[in-house]
Formats: sequence, C-alpha cells, structure tokens
Amino acid sequence: MTGSPSTPERPHAPGRGITAGQQADHEAAVEAALGKLDLDTKTRLLAGQDFWSLPALPEIGLDSLVMSDGPIGVRGVRSTADDPSIALPSPTALSATWDPDLAHRAGQLLAQEARRKGVHVLLAPTVNLHRSPLGGRHFETYSEDPYLTGAIGTGYVRGVQSGGVGTTVKHFVGNDAETDRFTVDNRIAPRPLRELYLAPFETIVKNAHPWGIMTAYNTVNGTSMTEHRYLVNEVLRGEWRFDGINVSDWTAARSTVGDALGGLDLAMPGPRTVYGENLAAAVRAGQVDEPVVDEAVRRVLLLAARTGVLTTTEPVVPAEALPAPVDGDALAREIATRSFVLLRNEGGVLPLDPAGPRIALSGAAARDARVLGGGSATVYPDHVVSPLDGLSAALPEGALSYELGADPANELDVAGKGFDLRAVCRDADGETLASVPLPSGHIQWMGNDLPEGVSYENVHTIEVTGTFTPRESGTHAFGTRGVGGFRLTVDGKSLYTGEVRLGDAADPFEAFFGKPTERGRLDLTEGESVELSLLHTVAKPEGLPIQAIVFTLLHQDPEHDADELIARAVEAARAADTAVVVVATTERVESEGFDRRDLNLPGRQNDLVRAVAAVNPRTVVVVNAGSPVELPWREEVAAVLLSWFPGQEGGAALADVLLGAAEPGGRLPTTWPKTLADAPVTRTAPTDGKLEYEEGVFIGYRAWEKAGATPAYPFGHGLGYTDWTYESLTVEPAGDGLTVTVRVRNRGERTGRETVQVYLAPTDPVPDAGRSERPARWLAGFAGVEAAAGTSAEAVIHIARRAFQIWDEEAGDWTAVPGPYAVEAGRSVLDLRVSAATEI
Ligand code: BGC
Repeated sequence: MTGSPSTPERPHAPGRGITAGQQADHEAAVEAALGKLDLDTKTRLLAGQDFWSLPALPEIGLDSLVMSDGPIGVRGVRSTADDPSIALPSPTALSATWDPDLAHRAGQLLAQEARRKGVHVLLAPTVNLHRSPLGGRHFETYSEDPYLTGAIGTGYVRGVQSGGVGTTVKHFVGNDAETDRFTVDNRIAPRPLRELYLAPFETIVKNAHPWGIMTAYNTVNGTSMTEHRYLVNEVLRGEWRFDGINVSDWTAARSTVGDALGGLDLAMPGPRTVYGENLAAAVRAGQVDEPVVDEAVRRVLLLAARTGVLTTTEPVVPAEALPAPVDGDALAREIATRSFVLLRNEGGVLPLDPAGPRIALSGAAARDARVLGGGSATVYPDHVVSPLDGLSAALPEGALSYELGADPANELDVAGKGFDLRAVCRDADGETLASVPLPSGHIQWMGNDLPEGVSYENVHTIEVTGTFTPRESGTHAFGTRGVGGFRLTVDGKSLYTGEVRLGDAADPFEAFFGKPTERGRLDLTEGESVELSLLHTVAKPEGLPIQAIVFTLLHQDPEHDADELIARAVEAARAADTAVVVVATTERVESEGFDRRDLNLPGRQNDLVRAVAAVNPRTVVVVNAGSPVELPWREEVAAVLLSWFPGQEGGAALADVLLGAAEPGGRLPTTWPKTLADAPVTRTAPTDGKLEYEEGVFIGYRAWEKAGATPAYPFGHGLGYTDWTYESLTVEPAGDGLTVTVRVRNRGERTGRETVQVYLAPTDPVPDAGRSERPARWLAGFAGVEAAAGTSAEAVIHIARRAFQIWDEEAGDWTAVPGPYAVEAGRSVLDLRVSAATEI
C-alpha cells in the first residue's frame, strides 16, 4: 500500500503572534534544512532519542528539542529535589476563575519556567471534557462545557507561546476517562464529537494557533487516534488549518504505516518507537511514500524554528522580546484565591474577623495539603504552604488550634514529611556512580532522566538512604512499590528482603504505581531520628516500550483510634468561635491511569464534619479536591469553600480568603451532583472494548436540565463577599453574531468581582425533533467585571454565530438553527437574572 498525505496546502497566513516575515523565514529555513537530510536521518528525527527529547542534527544547525509536562507547572527532564518547579493550582481551579487573561498569565509563567529548565515545548493544556465525574484525570481538565474549556485553553496557549515556548493541546480526542485508555474504542456520533469534544480543540486552534497537538491513546469510532487520518488530516489540518506538529501520547504510536498515513509526525518517547528505522524500512518497502515523511519532518523543523531550536533562523520570540518576568509564588497565590468557589455561606459566616476569632482547624489535609493531582501532571515545588501554615502565619498567636480529626490516607503513602533522603546509584561492582538528594521516597527516572554519570545500562542498584524523624510516637509502617529487588532496613532492623516481578499489566502506570505493599512495622519516638536504607536492585524487564526506573519507599504514620481523633477535634471545635475542617481526596482517588469508583470522601471525613458541625454552628468546610465529591452534610454546615488542588501557595490563599483579604472568585466549571447516582454519565468502562457515548450532546448541565434534576451545586455557581443586582441586558447585532451588554450593580459593602454568564436558550414552542434535539440552554459567552460597593459595571460580551449552530450530520457541516432565542444572563445556569429575546 502506498499513500500520500491528504493534508491541504500549507497555510501561508502566519498564525497568531507570528509575523508574515517570520513565517516566510521559517519556511525557507525549514526547506533548506530538509534538503540536506537523507531518509534515515529524517525518520530518526520523527522519534524521540530518549524520553523527552529529539536528536540534535548539528549538520543543519538543529539543537535537541526538549518537551515536558504540563499543565500546572514544568517538571523538566529531571524530577529531583534540586530541580523544583512552581506548582500552580489544578486545571479545574484555573477554569473556575472563568478568566482567560489569568490563564494567559499562567501560560507566561509556565513559558518562563520552561526556559529556565531548557524545555522548548510544554505538553499541555489538557482540554478533554468532564463527561463523567468519575474520569480519573478530571482534575487535569477544565470543564464539562466546551465553550469555557476553549476560552481558558486559548488564554493558556497564547500565554505559553507568547514566551516563545510551544504547546501540545491534548489529548486529541475523546480521552475523557482512563479505564482501558490504551485500547478503548469511544463511539461518538458526529454531533457530540463536533459540538462537544472537538469544539475546544477547534477554538484553540483557530484562536491561539498552537504549535502542537498530542493525539490520544484511545480509538474513536474504530480508528486509533494516532492513525486517525480523517480527524487529523481532514478536520484538524484541513478544515481548521492547523500547521503545528502532531505528537503521539507517550507510547500511543503502535503502527508504523498506520501512524504515518494517519498524520502522526512524532512518535514519543524514544528510543524504541514505530518510527525511526522502522519508518525508513516502510518507505523502502513502498508502504509509505517519502513525501509523507517529508511533510512530518517539515512540521518538526517548523516547530524547531519557532522555538529557537533550529538555529539557522530567528525564533518567534527572540530573547529581547520576552515578556517581563513573572513572580511565580505570587501568581500561584493569586490564581488560587481567584479559583476558590464559595458554595455556601449561611448568615455570612465568611469572611472571618482576622482579629477576633479563635479557630479550631482540623483534617489531615490541613496539615499535609494536597496541592496537585497525580500522574504525569505531577511537579515538585520547592515549598508548599498548607492551610495550617497559611492560617498560622495570618492569625495572632494563640488564635489557632489544630487537630488531625480524620485521616483519609488509610494506606501507605510516599515517604515525605520527616524524611531526609538521598539516592546512591551503584554499578554491578558496587562502585558509586552518583549520589543525589531526593524530594521524597519516590524515584521516577524515565529514559535519560538519570543523575549525572548514571545510565540505564550501567546502574545496578539504587539505595534510598537517609534519616527519618517521626512527627509522632507509635508504630510506624514502612513499605515499597515497584518492580525489582528490595532490601529495607530501618533503625538497624531488617524489615524485608525480596523481589517483585513485573506482572502482566497493560499500562506501565499500573506496573509502577500499583498497590503499595507493607514490608514491616517499627515503634518509634517523636523527634528521635533513625537511619534507614532501601536497597533496590534495578529490574530491566524485556519488552517494555520505555526504559524507566520507578519505585517508591512508602510510610504510614501510627494508626489512631478513629473515634478518638474525631472526639478530640470536636472538643477543640466546641471551645472555638469558628471551626474549619479541611476534607480531601487522596492520590489513590484522583490520579492518572484509572477512573474513580465513587465520589466518596475517603476515611471518616464525613463523620468528622458532622460531629464538628453538631457542636459549632460556625463550621466552615474546605473541600480540597480536584473533582466533584459527595458532600452529604452540606446543608448542616455554615459554609462550604471549594479550594480544588490549590497549588503550592494554597494555604496562603486560603488564609487570604477565609480572613477576607481576598474574595473567593471562583465559579463552578462543572456541575456538582448530590450523589454519583444522580450524575448523568456514570459509565466510563467499555463493554467488549467499546464505550458508547450514548448520551449524545447531553453531558453536564445540558443533561441535568434535560432530566429536570437538581444538582447539589449547578454549573456556574459561586458566591462572593458582596451581592449583585442584574439591572439590564441589551442585544445588538454585531458582525455575524451579537453583542450582549449586561449592567450589574454591586449592592454589597465591599469591592467585588462578578462573572457575568450569558446563555442562549431556544424558545421555539415547537420542540426540536430527532437529530436536531438541543439542550434547553448553553453557555454562549461570559465576562468578569469589577465594581466598588454601590457602583455598577457593564459586561460587554460577544456571542459568535457558532453559538446558534449545530453540526448537521446529514450535510456534514455547521448549520444555524433559525427561530426565536432568549439571551439570558446571570450568576449560574440555574440563577438567570435578566434576558432579552432575539431571532435568527
Ligand atoms: C499522558 C500525557 C503526558 C505523557 C508524558 C502520558 O501518560 O497521558 O498527558 O503528556 O504521558 O508524560
């Protein structure tokens, strides 16, 4: 079989932020470089030389192009304590700000971080949708609404690329859950595919001109996404004029010919991929035409030109044109305060009086904050401000008490607090190759991401060694996770010697991040340091697509009587003016590689909240979770504040918001159900390999409205510290859309920020039939406005023609649905205050 690319002519119009002159220079530099490369070198350039980078080709002035995750920080190619990263709030938090300008500033900071770490392309943003609250990477994506997702993603991509760093918008498309993610065939009809799942990608491609896209692990309608010629070459490149690279998700590329003909440019990670010499062989065998390879190489070289890696031309953003430096700690704090969603505030219990209250704080996450979600999105910040740290710093001496209350971590966790660790790497003769500090007991060295002097080939053992200073007296448990040999010694006592073999896990994540295993217990005393050593013999299993050294030293604090913990928190709460309880999910609940099974808060956290609320009517619950959880006590407490995974400055931001220095600015980007059973989509597991998106266009609030059901908190909901009156709404034609002007007045006592949301609702009394069945309303625009107490402000919002269109499955095109519409504005999808009629 032979094939030629069905890509359109390359667009000559430069993308956003790129001048016509730059585009022409880049294209000329790319052609000159391409002309000097032979087939083997070209195909080598289409695969990673290691986990994160492409080969350098000095003969054409090409440096090695480096990529890194994304999206809340830039991990870089190393994950060690000496290479920390700023950790911003989770993507769900960023979208809760409903502020593309803030996303833009986040992007600028990330570009600055990328440059600091020698990274040219950020593997972000993640713009799959919240189809079901069970989706394991829900925290890493923005919203159940494609418009909000597209708007935040556009700001983010523009921000990163304004700093001269590329993005790969991911995972194109349909990676909305994690169960069987490598093999699942998501069956998505054309309308939901276009109107929901492709829509954020389309918006971002058209408005932010990303320099890359990442194709997903999954299959869509029978074709693996890395081979999806129709969606990649016809839709993305053809209809939308995308001119960037298409990189596979890590290990997603599985077919040399299928991927090449399907429009995949880059197979990652290396060095073992279906491209490289396999692709050269396929060309020589006549299975792939060389022009297909050339097109892919052009796109890789164009990315290199844009990011300054192809040194024969100027990058899009030369050093002298870089944006002003950003203070990462300050921005992390600002985004966090702007993202916190005040779900409930009975009697105005918040904000608290910073001078007055005695606060009884409880909850494990108040002390050990959960600041980010797990998996490839993990970064290692150099410090974390917990709620306990943040409130202690902001309150007068003696005003704050702390009790654990309930510990959701009912199993071993990565050795962290109290551990001071190094990794000593040795070869087979026992010679030391390197000794490096470790941020925690987790080692994750992929490809060449190894300490200086260490290689996958020469390393034989890695000893995690150092001291542990217990925070409490009692019986401490220690354990391991990972594959290979282990010898664990704590305080001179041998706890375990043995070997763990690689099972038949299909997902490398399962192999490396599987269930923790306890290896022994020891009675230790608070404050008394002990020596420890975990000697790991590196397993180098055959047949893995990646070279990775991943294992973990685990630890668990002494277990306490759960009733006693609650009783102590209750006593403290009884004696205080205000009780603040922080509840949280754990890394075993929200992470990559698996979906959630339920929406419960783990452990006895619900009991803790109820018991505290029973003795203190001024109980404020802080929900530290990246995705919806059930809050069965929500009507029994005075206030509920959602802090998401708030990033490294979360505790400082929490103090700002609880004590009134800042208003909680967030609005829900996704509906919060009362119970999982109420959620419209609860199936994320395929049957016989297939997952039917049978709900069509009805996900999120579109589905809640269709069912006539009421959630715990609707899409768009979020209180501030002031009140707003919606005074008027006017609609005027503008271009092929509308301009909507909404006047709001701040009738509270302090300056505030309001997120004005505009929805479009068809009002034709004749119900839509069959294929054109539409939701009751959908988000068509929004804007944030600020106003001082007593003053008014105007939100001016453009509604694009697309808001009136549906994807006509028969015509294979967008079509506007004529008829009368209500243009409605308000504070959430269920709290609409003003409206006007319009007709198209
Ligand atoms: C994830 C991607 C990530 C890649 C590299 C994959 O498992 O799905 O989002 O960019 O790993 O870490």
